[in-house]
Amino acid sequence: MKFLLHTYGCQMNVRDAETVAALLEAVGHVQVGSEAEADAIIINTCSVRGKAEDKALGKARLLCFEKRNRQLIVGIMGCMAQRLGESIFDSVRGLDFIVGSRRHGSVPQLLARVAAGETQIADLGEAGEVTAIPHVHLDGTHAAFVTILLGCNRRCAYCIVPDVRGPEYSRPAAEIIAEVRQLAARGVREVTLLGQSVMNYGRANAVGIDVSAPSAFSEPLPRLLEAVAAVPGILRIRFTSGHPSGCTDELVRAVRDIPQICAHLHLPVQSGSDRILALMRRGYGRADYLDAIARLRVARPGFAITSDVIIGFPGETTEDFEATRSLMEEAAFENTFIFKYSPRPGTPAADLPETVDAEEKMRRNQILLIDQDRCGQAINEARIGQTVEVLADGPSLRNASRWAGRTSGNMIVIFENRADARVAPGDLVSVTITRAKPQTLYGELKTPSGLTPC
Ligand code: 5AD
Ligand code: SF4
Repeated sequence: MKFLLHTYGCQMNVRDAETVAALLEAVGHVQVGSEAEADAIIINTCSVRGKAEDKALGKARLLCFEKRNRQLIVGIMGCMAQRLGESIFDSVRGLDFIVGSRRHGSVPQLLARVAAGETQIADLGEAGEVTAIPHVHLDGTHAAFVTILLGCNRRCAYCIVPDVRGPEYSRPAAEIIAEVRQLAARGVREVTLLGQSVMNYGRANAVGIDVSAPSAFSEPLPRLLEAVAAVPGILRIRFTSGHPSGCTDELVRAVRDIPQICAHLHLPVQSGSDRILALMRRGYGRADYLDAIARLRVARPGFAITSDVIIGFPGETTEDFEATRSLMEEAAFENTFIFKYSPRPGTPAADLPETVDAEEKMRRNQILLIDQDRCGQAINEARIGQTVEVLADGPSLRNASRWAGRTSGNMIVIFENRADARVAPGDLVSVTITRAKPQTLYGELKTPSGLTPC
């Protein structure tokens, strides 16, 4: 069967989609790039905001409508399937199956059952189930995601994730290391360790990191990072997403002392106002956040921070919004993802009356986008003339000699790949920066010397 996956949402979802693709390919199905070619289309959904859910539902309805004209299997997996459950069958007529956020390992069996004539199958599993999740990868990439922590135990007032992804479960360290070794043996150079609140790794359940073994660290995440860095062939390690409470002295020391750890952390701040942070139940204040990033930057000069901000949380006044603006200016983020607040049914914040209307949310959104562009431009212009280390991804779609890669700080770099340089995907190259945009650097390929960490 030819299948297509449509993925919305976070890197966790991208990783889950990859697992499903690898499982389907393992039993002989073939991944295709267009809907027209596909015999089965699976929509991998996100529940963070209402808009993400509406988009996925709209897509599912359209695809089910197409079933009138041709043979097509349509399924929904991921967070929205988990949240809405079997009620989705009422709103999407003709949908063949839904599969929950910890049950995607069963997609091959579900497809087979639908092909054999069953329909409207729901596989949502038990809350907190961990055994049903396989950890398989597709071949042929040089950068891979590795899930280390499932679910989330933080109860931020606005967030649906704990409901849809279940309670925290940290995978055993030995299992993670074995997976990273396998990936390295297949040519993977960069791993990104994933968890909703990744710094909670090893806090909710034992992970079997032998504390008697000689190590520079005692906390689970720094120890895991140390062990991953020891895997031959792994040149770069990232972990995401962070929380300021996880920026312990040890973690900061790991960032300083383990060279494979990249000079970048995605550390969502959500707001710059202490009052709103308290209402959001984030568990830190503005000063704690700024202190955490300052310590990371002392440990690693040039350390890049990116962030998420929610605008229009219930009760957010103009002063609160200005506090967010000033925090963003002080923090000098390399990039900020800005989200308009969306009440999620069942979360504590959903009981608070909304006080910022859609128009005002849009206005605040625009202001932050402009602020962030200015900041990103200034940061990147300061890099013109520097030579930075880039992990080459490959040619751009439109121009085969124009290559893209990323710095350790996670900035995209575009460079001309000269034929005589013979750069291949996954190579570490050095590039001298000649031009800058807020989210992209442009430069010339150099011989590997005189690197500036970036
Ligand atoms: N409304 C708007 N944005 C949200 N996020 C999470 N929940 C909501 C919500 N209810 C944002 C946060 C989080 C990112 C993944 O999504 O900024 O960091
Ligand atoms: Fe969306 Fe959260 Fe689910 Fe990721 S974990 S897909 S961000 S709801």
